[in-house]
Amino acid sequence: MVGPGDDAGVFRHKDTLMVETVDVITPIVDDPYEFGAICAANSVSDVFAMGGTPLTALAILGYASCDFGPAVIRRLLKGATEKLREAGACLMGGHSIEDEQFKFGFAVSGVVDKNSILKAGGARPGDTLVLTKKLGTGILTSAVKLKKMKEPALKPVIASMMSLNKIASRAAVASGARGATDVTGFGLLGHALNMAASSNADLVLQYDTVPFMKQVREFITAGVIPKGAKNNLAFVQKRTKFSKSLGDEDRLALADPQTSGGLLIALPPKGLKKFDSIAGREKMPYWIIGEVVKGRGRIRVE
Ligand code: CO
Ligand code: CO
Repeated sequence: MVGPGDDAGVFRHKDTLMVETVDVITPIVDDPYEFGAICAANSVSDVFAMGGTPLTALAILGYASCDFGPAVIRRLLKGATEKLREAGACLMGGHSIEDEQFKFGFAVSGVVDKNSILKAGGARPGDTLVLTKKLGTGILTSAVKLKKMKEPALKPVIASMMSLNKIASRAAVASGARGATDVTGFGLLGHALNMAASSNADLVLQYDTVPFMKQVREFITAGVIPKGAKNNLAFVQKRTKFSKSLGDEDRLALADPQTSGGLLIALPPKGLKKFDSIAGREKMPYWIIGEVVKGRGRIRVE
């Protein structure tokens, strides 16, 4: 029912709609427990981005066994299993392979109700754009790697990456949303452009309303810019129109690649009240960052 190009595939088997996705990443934090949890949150996110419920997960692990002992792997798996349990998914097994570059992730399977499917192409003119996590994980984790920021300062960033998009997904479905995607490697602009193109509409973002984590702007000014942010910006440039008041730093900040980022939801205005009440009850932050207008798959940043 949904093929490549969206966050996850959806396959109908009799009355069941299966949601399938896989995601593998390389370490972005030092602590194996936290990295395991981030990997799990990141992998199940694509199921939530489809409006689905994750049920089972299979781990994929690549590592050099001479460099990482069993204690590290145990902590990694503990972080992952606890996070999967929180998401409602069960770890069924997995596969490990000897690898120079450490990598970890999951293939996740879930189900979705046929009236609850959230597609990247489901945005409609008139919808309000909602984002559920602040941006900046790429820039801030780079700052730590470059030793320009101490790891303790990364705590809120790690907490954000470890948090699930489960409530955001439930709230979007309950509020009548049809369009959503999670903001990950292609940055807000890349994922917004995919939403615009597959919805055959334009997305208008209000720069001043886009939430950034602390110190993101500071580090960009200091030249901490992940290569991914530059690539993402180059990729979207042709189909994105920026207000003249926005400089290179603002544009790069919007293109920062995210790990386990939030959901970008296209919400019909009449669903906003419901969304707000669920978010309030569950203490989930969210930001209204723009709207969907008629168009042909472009972005405007004002
Ligand atoms: Co995704
Ligand atoms: Co993905």
